[in-house]
Amino acid sequence: MRVDRALTLAGYSRSEAKAMIARGRVRVGAGIVRDAGLDVRPEDVLLDGAPLDCEAEVYLMLNKPAGVITATEDKRLPTVVSLLPEKYRRRKIGPVGRLDRDVTGLVLLTTDGQLAHRLISPRWKAEKRYRAVCAGALTEADAQAFAQGVALSDFTAKPATLEILSSGATSTADVTLTEGKFHQVKRMFAAIGHPLTALSRLQIGCVELDAALAPGEFRRLTNEEIEGLRRLTGLSEGEEA
Ligand code: URA
Repeated sequence: MRVDRALTLAGYSRSEAKAMIARGRVRVGAGIVRDAGLDVRPEDVLLDGAPLDCEAEVYLMLNKPAGVITATEDKRLPTVVSLLPEKYRRRKIGPVGRLDRDVTGLVLLTTDGQLAHRLISPRWKAEKRYRAVCAGALTEADAQAFAQGVALSDFTAKPATLEILSSGATSTADVTLTEGKFHQVKRMFAAIGHPLTALSRLQIGCVELDAALAPGEFRRLTNEEIEGLRRLTGLSEGEEA
């Protein structure tokens, strides 16, 4: 890879990369890099003596707060991408699927378009788990309705799992489904007579929202999490994670 490309992968602009090379701040081993087109292994590049923090692809999880929209940019509202530091915003990073503005929790963001596409494609049936709080007392009949497939005005939802965690004047439940149609979880609860008062996504495939992340915080996915998502979507050999 060209050394200037390695610097842009680390989050610097092309002009910054050029200036850093011109000032002799970039080395490979003991040798100062003078040629922006020098062929290097990114892991061998040192900037001011320190290894570059560059990844060919970026994979992040964000704990989305309410009020933030799942888009790359917006003129009025904060977006999931606007919550990231500039070094990630400079990359072509985007959210995997969407959460409504009022819905909180796990959003994956990546530069890996193929993985993102597969995670939202019905073909790969990636499960998403949500924590839902709804009005009224949920019963086993509601769990059965979810398991059979809730009929909505324009389609019947595929079977989903409803695990009731508490039931009373309001109820809390975990719902797991493989579809991701517009307002789907809200519409499913409304259809069984229990409108939602709060919804938060906890899991996508093998990746669970990290409980250490406060709303608005993000972290990189671990290699294990990335590999699990790749297996789930047929991008890597081996057992599903
Ligand atoms: N279902 C919804 O209704 N909203 C979301 O944001 C995600 C799933």
